[in-house]
Amino acid sequence: MRIIRVDNYDEMSKKAADLVASQMILKHNSVLGLATGDTPIGMYKELIKLYNEKKIDFSDVRSFNLDEYYGISKENNQSYYYYMMNNLFNHVNMRKENINILDGKTDNVALECLNYEKRIKEVGGIDIQVLGIGVNGHIGFNEPNVNFESETHLVDLDQKTIESNSRFFKSIEEVPKSALSMGIKTIMQSKVIVLLANGEAKAEAIAKTVNGKICPEVQASILQLHNNVNIIVDKAAAKLLKSSDK
Ligand code: F6R
Repeated sequence: MRIIRVDNYDEMSKKAADLVASQMILKHNSVLGLATGDTPIGMYKELIKLYNEKKIDFSDVRSFNLDEYYGISKENNQSYYYYMMNNLFNHVNMRKENINILDGKTDNVALECLNYEKRIKEVGGIDIQVLGIGVNGHIGFNEPNVNFESETHLVDLDQKTIESNSRFFKSIEEVPKSALSMGIKTIMQSKVIVLLANGEAKAEAIAKTVNGKICPEVQASILQLHNNVNIIVDKAAAKLLKSSDK
C-alpha cells in the first residue's frame, strides 16, 4: 500500500484526478472503475477541468461504476446513474455506449450481475479503480462480513450505511435497503486502486484498512493483499495512522 498524505480535500481531489489522468494519457482507451458519494466529487471537478484544458480526452475511455441502488431507476435523481451524468459524463466527451452502470431496476438480478462481470472481462479488466470508503470500512457496497470471494452481486445495506446515506434523501425511510455492487473479487482484480478518504469520520476505517487484521468485518482490509493500492488521505482521515505508515 502506498499512503499519500495531503493537507485537505482539494489537494486529495487534485492528486486523485492526476492519477486518473495519467492513466488516460498512457492508454487512450483506459477502463476506469468509478465511485460515487461525496468523496470523489472534487476529483470529478478536476477531471472536467483537465478535459476543458485539453489535457485529457474521454472519447475512447470505458467506465464501470462500482454500484447502484436496487429498485431505483436511472431517471431518479438519487440514482448513481444520475449522479455520474451530473458530476462527470455530461461535461466530458465520454461516449454513452462506453458507460457501464448497473441497472437498479433490473428484473433479473443474477443476469445483470453476470453480464456486468462479463463486460469487465471483455474489455480486459479495470485499469484504475477509484474507491471511497464507508465509516464501517465498506468498499463499493460490500458491507461487513460479505464474502471476499464475491463478484458483482445484490447486497443488503448495513444500518450504518443507511443512516449515513440518509443525508442525500428526504427521510431515512426513502433510503434503499439494498444495492447492486461489484464484489471484492471484482475490485481486487483491478490493476491499480486509488482509495480516497477525507474527514475525521473516516479515520478509524482508514486505520483498520492499513494496520488492522485482514478480516471480512472490515472489507477494505483486503486491500492489504493488492499489489498496487494508493490511499490518498487528508490530515483528518490520517489521524489514527502511525507516522511510520508509508
Ligand atoms: C460509492 C461507494 C461507497 C462510497 C462510500 C463513501 O459508489 O461505493 O463505497 O464510496 O460509502 O461514501 P462518501 O464518499 O459519501 O463518504
